[in-house]
Amino acid sequence: MIALIGSGNVAAWIAHRLRDSKEFRIGQVYSRNIDHARRIADRVGAEAIDRMEDLSREASMYLFSVSDDAYRKLLPQIPFTMPLALHTAGSVSQQVFAGYAVEYGVLYPLQTFSENSVYEGLQVPVCLETDHLGASLDSVERLAAALSEQRCRMSGHQRTVAHLAAVFACNFSNAMFTIASDILQENGMSLDLLRPLMQQTLDKLDVMSPRQAQTGPAKRRDDRVLHNHLAALDDPIQRDIYRLISMYIQIQNDSGNEDK
Ligand SMILES: NC(=O)c1ccc[n+]([C@@H]2O[C@H](COP(=O)([O-])OP(=O)(O)OC[C@H]3O[C@@H](n4cnc5c(N)ncnc54)[C@H](OP(=O)(O)O)[C@@H]3O)[C@@H](O)[C@H]2O)c1
Repeated sequence: MIALIGSGNVAAWIAHRLRDSKEFRIGQVYSRNIDHARRIADRVGAEAIDRMEDLSREASMYLFSVSDDAYRKLLPQIPFTMPLALHTAGSVSQQVFAGYAVEYGVLYPLQTFSENSVYEGLQVPVCLETDHLGASLDSVERLAAALSEQRCRMSGHQRTVAHLAAVFACNFSNAMFTIASDILQENGMSLDLLRPLMQQTLDKLDVMSPRQAQTGPAKRRDDRVLHNHLAALDDPIQRDIYRLISMYIQIQNDSGNEDK
């Protein structure tokens, strides 16, 4: 039986993936808010709890998917040593479990999950950190296989680097889409206008590197357009972002940086 600690976006995906699993049954879901715990527990027929003291000692795995700073508060509340603890964070050391679990590791899903995410067809590379696993290695690998077809092993350092790269690829790209959407809306247009362009930006990466795929006024060193764009932006932060990223593109272009 698995005890799932957390009831957020990743916990919801885990519950969805394991809902029909014959081997991995989620028996308990913890959240400090019982309604949040119930929302997930009810989907998988598990018990919802809102006190760590009520965590079952019978679970074979304790799977944590909480905000990164919650571990410090939650772990000391567990009244027994867990046989096996795993977490799903990109940038929390597996050592957070030292002294609280006999075996421990990380199962980091390298994907972006939000409340209304569609899971059907979603590819989720699962990054495993396994060097503090002993007898439970096999069952953790089988759990990873139940969650995803794409799995890889990595060190803690590689995981934090992958997380850093993911922030650029996902979070920062999405911030750019947000600015684009705001600029269009302020002028009576919608982001839908850019959907083919956004899609092609990604599709081009099937046949060339991001460096080779770069286009636009910064790459062409079209100073007149750069000047006009900066003048058209009212928001000083958006102007700084435009300036800084244009400078990055120009430096990359000037240095003739080859793909590594
Ligand atoms: N979302 C992603 O795209 C993504 C992808 C890969 C990995 N991750 C990692 O997975 C983990 C969970 O992320 P998430 O997106 O699922 O987060 P989330 O949706 O924001 O959910 C966070 C969960 O942590 C709980 N929590 C927060 N502070 C707490 C505290 N002080 N004590 C007890 N519980 C607390 C919340 O409880 P309440 O319900 O009570 O608020 C909630 O259940 C994080 O380590 C994140 O880095 C996220």
